[in-house]
Order: sequence, then structure tokens, then C-alpha cells
Amino acid sequence: MIKKAVIPVAGYGIRFLPITKAVPKEMLPIIDRPVIDFIVEEAIESGIEEIIFVTSKKKKAIKKYFGKAKKLKKHLIKKQKNNELIQLEKTYKKAKITYVLQNEMKGLGHAVLLTQNITNGEPFVLMLGDDMYNNNGSNVTAQLINSYKNVKKTVLGTIEIDIKDSNKYGICEPESKINHLIKLRSVIEKPDQINAPSNIAISGRYILTPKIYKYLKTQKPGKDGEIQLTDAINRLISEEDVFAKIIKNKRYDIGTKADYVEAILDSSKLRKLM
Ligand code: G1P
Repeated sequence: MIKKAVIPVAGYGIRFLPITKAVPKEMLPIIDRPVIDFIVEEAIESGIEEIIFVTSKKKKAIKKYFGKAKKLKKHLIKKQKNNELIQLEKTYKKAKITYVLQNEMKGLGHAVLLTQNITNGEPFVLMLGDDMYNNNGSNVTAQLINSYKNVKKTVLGTIEIDIKDSNKYGICEPESKINHLIKLRSVIEKPDQINAPSNIAISGRYILTPKIYKYLKTQKPGKDGEIQLTDAINRLISEEDVFAKIIKNKRYDIGTKADYVEAILDSSKLRKLM
């Protein structure tokens, strides 16, 4: 039912300067695979068939990573490097990959708006590359798709945070609990602690219905002068129910250096390093 995933990858990655001057933040390595590969893997394992990257001209490395490397492949075949060939072929994904150019950095809401023609009236999952989850045991995107199947409405992936961090997230105001979901009264982008309606924070995974575009089209810039998706979702609530699902999987905020290192260490524990 949900077959498309939108992944915005055009951002500058300023939290990881200076490396991001030359290397897209999505290409930072978790040992030998870039962060973006784990996000795409989560999407495909949840049943997604088309990945839509909202990208910029500066992010050619991402297209290269998921593209064909004919010469390298020939070289590995000739040298009978079979294990290395297997590694190379893992980058070819069982999903259609579409690229949409975002030429101006006008915010997350703007990035999503650019995908309207490609999502083409279907609900879709939005995945932010800064939020990486340990999907062992239960795939996060699959959990949200399952919740969507029950309510057929927007479902936000959320985590419970320390309230002092409310100014780093979109924050939810709960209205009522419905089975395993929380029906929302409002959402607010990065409020100060005193204005935060709860400690339930939007955490990089969204199931969005096509109704969102109606609000994105007329959305005025908000926090930091950017077109905020959270503001558009907040307006959507007056027309359509919006739900939050609490995600319990371990999450890594890849924009935070300590979390990034932890993601590498945890990943190394799950495999034999040679
Ligand atoms: C974005 C969203 C915010 C959300 C966060 C999750 O903010 O605008 O609502 O809580 O992602 O990681 P960013 O971290 O890109 O500033």
C-alpha cells in the first residue's frame, strides 16, 4: 500500500564540517557502508519499491554509490575477486531510484513539496538521513506502515526525549490515546522547553498522506526562516487526524558526533571485522 519513500539529501551537513565540505553527510561511513545505505535498506526491507532522493548538484557521490560501476565490476571479474564483487553488487538495490533536484535550501517542507508529481497522489514514507535506527528485531518503517494500515492517516514516528532538548525537534501535543497510537492536537517546531507541550518528539520517520501538499504549497517560512514540514502538518490537523507512534528501537542522531561513533561501534559488534 505504501510503496514510495522520500529521502531528502540536499542539506549542507554543517554540523559535520569540515568533512562535509567535500563529502556529503549521507556518505559518512559506518565502517564500509555509508549512512544512506542503512536508510535505503530499512526502506526496502519494509516493502518500499521506489526511493525518491531530493538531492542537490553537490551530492553526486550518492548517485554514484547507488549507480552502476561497470569498469570496476569488469576489473573484479577479471581478477576473480568474488567476495569484493559481492560487496559491489550489494549497492545495487531492489528498488527504483528517482532523483529530484532541490536547487534552493528552503527547508524540509520545501524538499517534500518538490516530490508531489512523483508520489502522485499516494501516501508515502518520509525518511530523514540524520536519524538512523537499529532495525534488528523490528524495522521502524515497517512499524509505521502497519500503523498507517489501521488508521489510513498521517502517522509520525516519535521518541520520548529529555524535555530540555525540545528545541532540537518537532514536538507533539497529544490529545488522546487510540490503541498503540497517540492522536495529536498540534505539533510545533523546536519550541523552548517552557513552550513544549510534551516530550514526544518527531524523529525522522513520517507516513504522509497526499493532503500534506495542499498545506506545503501555501506554507510560509517558520523557524529559522525555513518552510517547515511541522508547520504544514500542524495545519493539516484541522482537516485530517494525525497520529504519533512511539518508536522504541535504538536511534542514532547521525548529526551528533557521539551518536555517529556509537553507530559505528554498535555496527562493528554485529559483524565480524577482519
Ligand atoms: C527535522 C524536523 C524536526 C524533527 C527532526 C528529527 O529537524 O524539522 O521536526 O524533529 O528533523 O530529527 P532537523 O534535525 O533537520 O533540524
